[in-house]
Amino acid sequence: MSRTARPAGEPPALEREQLSAATFGTLRDLLHAHSGIALAAHKLTMVQSRLAKRLRALGIQTYEEYLRQIEDPQSAEWPEFINALTTNLTSFFREGHHFTRLVELLKPASPRRIRIWSAGCSTGEEPYTLAMTLSRAFGTALPIQILATDLDTAVLDTAASGIYPLARIEDLDLEWKRLAFLRGTGPLQEKVRVRPELRQLITFQQLNLLDEAWPLGNEPFQAIFCRNVMIYFDKPTQRKLLRRFHDLLEPEGLMFVGHSEALLDANLGFQSLGQTIYRRKAARP
Ligand SMILES: C[S@@+](CC[C@H](N)C(=O)[O-])C[C@H]1O[C@@H](n2cnc3c(N)ncnc32)[C@H](O)[C@@H]1O
Repeated sequence: MSRTARPAGEPPALEREQLSAATFGTLRDLLHAHSGIALAAHKLTMVQSRLAKRLRALGIQTYEEYLRQIEDPQSAEWPEFINALTTNLTSFFREGHHFTRLVELLKPASPRRIRIWSAGCSTGEEPYTLAMTLSRAFGTALPIQILATDLDTAVLDTAASGIYPLARIEDLDLEWKRLAFLRGTGPLQEKVRVRPELRQLITFQQLNLLDEAWPLGNEPFQAIFCRNVMIYFDKPTQRKLLRRFHDLLEPEGLMFVGHSEALLDANLGFQSLGQTIYRRKAARP
């Protein structure tokens, strides 16, 4: 079996073998069964490099040894395995038109409270953008509840802290920077933190979308954002999730998916409003 190039400065004893196609296949199946994430065969190199860090952390030499740890469902390594293989790319105001449209669609109904779910919230930029736009549009006159969930515990820790490198907000308007963030001082001067009055609108919670039970309370949502998450799932998993989202929305509730995820069709009980925004139809098949 060939060996990977040794990172500069790393002792020869820690040189690791390459990830074989067979081990990759088994790791891929385990990931899929647990999270719904369906990795393509060409992702072998990506998986190898992401798991190399875990092998180093554990002092393990081969991917087969790593696999043996993961095959035990009780293994403490499971969250780390999942965290290493999720794709967490996100940003403030990603697909910004969604936030503008959300406010335009909610306003005419003069809601008495707002309850939104950001499913697959990653490091928190999506729910914080929701908190920013909704509190500016509706003020403090009505309660705003944003539930933000993810499978990955590491991204949730970042999200809950609300602390970001200054560079993450460099493209935001000056007004948003002022309204929503506090600048760090001293050793934290290259960081910003979301203002506490916005942070308190959000509840962060770990949730695997594949779990049979979602402990989310009984109140329906006016809108669900599940953007750039289902893209990693296979079609049957996507359809099953969409049925469950349908049932958790208010009768005219809104569903937002990523721009490359024109997933919903009339058969799933949603009507397209354009720009990958959908309105729940009363019944679903
Ligand atoms: C690319 S990020 C999308 C973040 C944000 N929604 C956006 O559009 O910017 C996808 C997120 O989905 C999460 N995810 C993947 N599988 C999941 C699952 N089975 N249950 C819950 N979250 C999952 C990942 O951990 C990751 O943070």
